[in-house]
Amino acid sequence: MTALLSPLALRGLTLKNRLVVSPLCQYSARGGVVGDYHLVHLGRFALGGFGTVIVEATAVTAQGRITYGCPGLWEDGQIAGMARITALLRAQGAVAGIQLAHAGRKASSIPPWLIGTDEREADAEHWQPVAPSALPHAEDAPVPRAMTEADIGAEVEAWTAATRRAVKAGFHLIEIHAAHGYLLNQFLSPVSNRREDAYGGSAANRMRFPLQVVEAVRAAMPGDMPLAVRLSASDGLEGGRTVEDSIVFARALRERGVDVIDVSAGGFTGARFEIGPGMYLPWATQIRQAAGLPVMAVGLMGEAQLAEAAMAEERADLVALGRAALDDPNWPLHAARRLGAETRALWPKQAGYAIERWPGRNR
Ligand SMILES: Cc1cc2nc3c(=O)[nH]c(=O)nc-3n(C[C@H](O)[C@H](O)[C@H](O)COP(=O)(O)O)c2cc1C
Repeated sequence: MTALLSPLALRGLTLKNRLVVSPLCQYSARGGVVGDYHLVHLGRFALGGFGTVIVEATAVTAQGRITYGCPGLWEDGQIAGMARITALLRAQGAVAGIQLAHAGRKASSIPPWLIGTDEREADAEHWQPVAPSALPHAEDAPVPRAMTEADIGAEVEAWTAATRRAVKAGFHLIEIHAAHGYLLNQFLSPVSNRREDAYGGSAANRMRFPLQVVEAVRAAMPGDMPLAVRLSASDGLEGGRTVEDSIVFARALRERGVDVIDVSAGGFTGARFEIGPGMYLPWATQIRQAAGLPVMAVGLMGEAQLAEAAMAEERADLVALGRAALDDPNWPLHAARRLGAETRALWPKQAGYAIERWPGRNR
């Protein structure tokens, strides 16, 4: 068996392989409610052999949506649509994960396909974002309102409530979005956090709110359900966070019952990174070793040999694919074939017996 296709146990859950669909915003929910589009979009990854599918950034408050089209779990009416997704994923043997998120100052944006056009959708909504400090994320972005301590308390409660709804919807795994310059990353980074109270200044103060969120989410989850946190290993900016800061954060996450660190990077205007295959993998390995926690590698990991080597050499424990999964929802099946692994069992039984006899399969 290939390392990529070997199972991984996390708390009471066994992931059937190491392949994860990274959270992918679709900006296609209405009032935070997901529909048929989401069901098909996510279901095809489970049919394609991914062991885990993580639903896109799902806002814990309406104000925390990146755009008006982002899904949410800030009210009970949003649970049923998510429950259809978890039922479908579960029926196909995939783990249903969800990324809970708050965009902070990057909220109230528009879907990327409308940027640079004059087109506006009929149901477009805009609102004033909140953030650690009243600093916009870009020159033309709205100035956010700095959160008060009461806002911070209310936010923590919103994360708790959204977690309970995610559990009710049938998710097996929760990921907290603390990366990409969104709210938790805004608190962590000195670039966006200029607070002078207990939530700003020292590294310990900047970690305070994100860690309160992690504690609240962990406390609202069943003990056998794994919790992941996505972080930006580096802000990629002069004066921003570095991987050393992320190691300190990852150790604090481990102490609070986090099971997996999903190692991404960036999210701040002007950030610079070297782009290439496995670009964040060295940071994932560094955090894995220093914090002693399983890690998920992401960022141009869609070459089968690279992904397999990362698992076999224990440089990471899971591989998350974003664009490669969108491009080829059957990526695990095709990768398994390229790696010389047995693929029949990976296909849904309705397709496997036919595909394996198909003369065109090695095209
Ligand atoms: C269309 C699209 C939507 C995305 N939405 C999210 C998201 O909801 N949450 C998140 O953490 N990252 C999001 N990302 C980042 C991906 O999860 C992933 O980290 C990134 O694309 C790098 O992986 P890749 O090289 O395999 O695409 C998104 C990326 C794309 C292309």
